[in-house]
Amino acid sequence: MHEREIAYQEQIRQLQEEIAALKRERNAVILAHNYQRPEVQDVADFVGDSLELSRKATTVDTEVIVFCGVHFMAESAKILNPSRTVLLPEITAGCPMADMIELEDLREWKARYPDAAVVCYVNSSAAIKAESDICCTSANALKVVEAVDSRRILFVPDQHLGQFVAAQTQKEVILYPGHCPTHRRLQPEHLRSAKATHPDAVVVVHPECTEDVVKLADVALSTSQMLRYVRESSSNKFLIGTEHGLLHRMRLENPDKTIYSASNALVCPNMKRTHLKSVNNALRNSEYVIDVPEETRILAKRALDRMLEVI
Ligand code: 13P
Ligand code: SF4
Repeated sequence: MHEREIAYQEQIRQLQEEIAALKRERNAVILAHNYQRPEVQDVADFVGDSLELSRKATTVDTEVIVFCGVHFMAESAKILNPSRTVLLPEITAGCPMADMIELEDLREWKARYPDAAVVCYVNSSAAIKAESDICCTSANALKVVEAVDSRRILFVPDQHLGQFVAAQTQKEVILYPGHCPTHRRLQPEHLRSAKATHPDAVVVVHPECTEDVVKLADVALSTSQMLRYVRESSSNKFLIGTEHGLLHRMRLENPDKTIYSASNALVCPNMKRTHLKSVNNALRNSEYVIDVPEETRILAKRALDRMLEVI
């Protein structure tokens, strides 16, 4: 190993040790999303997709939850478990898709479709959740839409996940025009060329990808569903169309399988804001505390609880 690489690995090891000690001292748990940097995932107590992390947040009994992910995820943890101190290590780690819908936009859309039930992707602010009938994640969106007692669904804010659901249900799904800039960077021509390079690989993409990309794939799944799929598959080559962070765990879990990324563009800058130093600072300085106004929290919790009852 190169000298600089050895020094870097040593720095990582020291930070991970410090974080483990601080975590005990602060009575904290670290939750991390599957897209976090490998070294951040390695220091977490639990790594998962949005649904698993929401479930986990309800059962945490430590005083502090350090949420390594983006703002809406830490907010969901606070909504579900308000007596805990929830820390987001990098306060600027947001989700551009969640920011594509404001409360006023949703109210306007609701007025336009008064008979529609509002299904809101968890990638949304607490205020949007509070104004919605029920939440969903990429792991359960179809089940949630089918479970809702309405034939007309207003699906916000991800038009691509909404389209993915619309293609599988008899219900009328009205799509709000939000999207994930990271998954949208995976263009059909990138996937076609990756498929041509690896013709024997199974193609697995995230439903936040555009419809044209989903049509080119063998299967579209949430991040944890992808992990399960690859683990259980008898194939040994995979082309993965989602954020690069997921490949870390996938490769660790499947040392005998070959995992390719569908594109170098699949990096979410917001998910990559959190470094080990950010986690260390979060525990040392109790930053950044995530709070949700109580009135909004109660309404947002209702939408999240309804989702957790469906599955
Ligand atoms: P999941 O891990 O729930 O599939 O979510 C993907 C995502 O884009 C989170 O921001
Ligand atoms: Fe938001 Fe997309 Fe990044 Fe997920 S990957 S946090 S949806 S921008």
